[in-house]
Amino acid sequence: MKKILRSVLVLLISIGVTSISFAGEGMWLPLFLKSLNEAEMQEMGMRMTAEDVYSVNKGSLKDAIVHFGGFCTGEIISDQGLLLTNHHCGYSQVQSHTTLENNYIKDGFWAASHKHELQNPGLFAKFIVRIDDVSKQALKGVSDKMTEKERQSTIDKNLATIKKAAKLDKFQELEIKPFFKGNQYFSITTVTYNDVRLVGAPPEMIGKFGADTDNWVWPRHTGDFSLFRIYANENNEPAEYSENNVPYKPKHHLPISLDGVSPDDFTLIFGFPGRTNEYLPSDAISQIVDVLNPAKISIRDRALKIVDSAMRADPAVKIQYASKFARIANYWKKWIGESKGIKATDGIGRKEKLEADFTKKVNGNKKFKVKYGSILSDFKTQYKEIEPYALMRDYHGEVLGRNIEIMRSANYMVSLADRYKDNGEEEYNQFKDRLISRYFDGFYKNYRPEIDQKVFVALIEMYDQNAKMEMNQPIQALLSSLKTKDYNVLAKHLFENSKFTDQESMYALLGQNPKTAVTQIMADPLYQFAKEMSSAYSNNIAEKYSAINGEIEKNQRLYMKALMDVFPDKAFYPDANSTLRVTYGKVDGYTPRDAVEYTPVTYLDGIIEKHVEDDYEFHVPARLRKLYDLKDYGQYADKNGKVPVCFIGTNHTTGGNSGSPAIDAYGNLIGLNFDRAWEGTMSDYNYDSSICRNIMVDARYILFIIDKYAGARHLIDEMTLVHPKED
Ligand code: ARG
Ligand code: ASP
Repeated sequence: MKKILRSVLVLLISIGVTSISFAGEGMWLPLFLKSLNEAEMQEMGMRMTAEDVYSVNKGSLKDAIVHFGGFCTGEIISDQGLLLTNHHCGYSQVQSHTTLENNYIKDGFWAASHKHELQNPGLFAKFIVRIDDVSKQALKGVSDKMTEKERQSTIDKNLATIKKAAKLDKFQELEIKPFFKGNQYFSITTVTYNDVRLVGAPPEMIGKFGADTDNWVWPRHTGDFSLFRIYANENNEPAEYSENNVPYKPKHHLPISLDGVSPDDFTLIFGFPGRTNEYLPSDAISQIVDVLNPAKISIRDRALKIVDSAMRADPAVKIQYASKFARIANYWKKWIGESKGIKATDGIGRKEKLEADFTKKVNGNKKFKVKYGSILSDFKTQYKEIEPYALMRDYHGEVLGRNIEIMRSANYMVSLADRYKDNGEEEYNQFKDRLISRYFDGFYKNYRPEIDQKVFVALIEMYDQNAKMEMNQPIQALLSSLKTKDYNVLAKHLFENSKFTDQESMYALLGQNPKTAVTQIMADPLYQFAKEMSSAYSNNIAEKYSAINGEIEKNQRLYMKALMDVFPDKAFYPDANSTLRVTYGKVDGYTPRDAVEYTPVTYLDGIIEKHVEDDYEFHVPARLRKLYDLKDYGQYADKNGKVPVCFIGTNHTTGGNSGSPAIDAYGNLIGLNFDRAWEGTMSDYNYDSSICRNIMVDARYILFIIDKYAGARHLIDEMTLVHPKED
């Protein structure tokens, strides 16, 4: 028996079937589930068919999934359009309704009835009607001999033809996107609802429990969820906000399982992953690990330290900077984990091994050799050539685009002055009004020039010392005109003589007639500095970067095609591109480092363990501690009488998958995806089933908070709660 098994294994391996080592890699296109994944999913425990997950003919799980605001995922969990997503996905909506009297961030928010649900202008929920392969039509007339420009314009014409010919129902829209690096195209038919109201959110000390310290970390205890509701007109169609709108009646809503998860249980995540890069060559990965990530990390390191100490010294600063800090810290921490993970799993070595296999196959086949023989050496040259430009691009973006706050404002002022010069007064006035209401009003509310000046000094020094290709010329020129070598003197000069750093002087400036205002803007030292830095960037970096990058993209397209050609038995999935994908895996712990083993489920007990009185990250609300003391858990505890909080699985996810449902073998909701474990954040380049884990909130914790903590029983009543394991 063993012998037979072994020979079957050897056979499978030798024909390149990947399922043996499978444990979660892949963000699969729903329309190919039947042909590529169904058998494996069922083998892993799924009790549904591919058609139950995605169908264009009948109601399926897909009909309960929405792209939430274009940046997260949400799912429908009642027949009245109730929508579940993450707390961090709905955060800015909750914040926008928050006032000092009604502090929904701090205290949470629960609409007592439909009429208390809060309107959110601009927020949308997009359903996917169907996805179709239109590669043939999209690439009609495209040949290898074309320049990139000719190729793109042929494709653009083809896409326009496809769109024109498409038969769409009322309210349907058609998007066409490239997949597999532009080797294939798919059209996506969507319907978008624009009246999406806030229904409920737990207090921040539950929804964001553990904040930045626990972000990207397992074991985790965050109740990262919030509730919205989609509204429609009386015909259940999309409609702009109106009092007459009614709750949307979905084609399908997800039942919620009260039976929870055990290790090895099948899990399916259905959502909208944003961006991954799984088919990069080893040269690109080394550049990320050795050059680009360290630069970005060190810049944010400096900035975050300065902001952190200011936040700790002053509670008012803490409030002003909390959200900005979280945003900067999120990817800072992710990059650190990513680089560590690539090193720990020999991500570069593994790519090199794949490349060696690839080269062997290519060299053994004349046709391949002609078409694909130079791909890898071309990559080597191209990545070497782009390196200084890519580095300066990241440097410029991080220092001047992101971390020094006032530079963003100064850049807007450059655009404003350009508007006047290029398009005249009317456009200037329009742009100015928009800038004030959409940017500056919010900016000054949370701005402390004295903190930003410190960040400026630290980062401009780094920029000056690491600059290549004369990108620091404007800094050097300014230093010498001020007859100093001290960055403090330079910063002081700019901050003290500019009208941009203070709301009053800025609004006085913008309040003048356009001509006078523009004259003064152009005389402002921060305007001049911003203008010089950005022209240095466009002259020295931008053009060259995009030329080399164009070559890389072309080569990457060929490499993708080559991989599919050379390894015909391997199932490929396209990189994430904010389109609907299925990823499946199982509930599973992992070993993050020597002698440490993680189990896959956390409990309310762990929240109580982490409690620190009055700490802004770890203070547990008294009410939650009381429920714990009384063991008042209702139907939400497990067999052992404990309330599960979060669990991890081997599902392959990325940014944008936040808010995605975790679905069990039968199609019920068991959890809500919101993060990944730190050791495995390199899954964006190199998924490794030994350490890549997605983090989900257990559905029972969500229900427990809604019911027992918030007392919003009416919301539980509209859901469909089930016991799949008992049945
Ligand atoms: N790391 C998660 C994601 O990338 C959650 C981020 C929100 N939480 C935070 N503390 N910044 O979106
Ligand atoms: N936290 C991410 C999101 O907001 C998910 C992830 O990167 O795993 O989409």
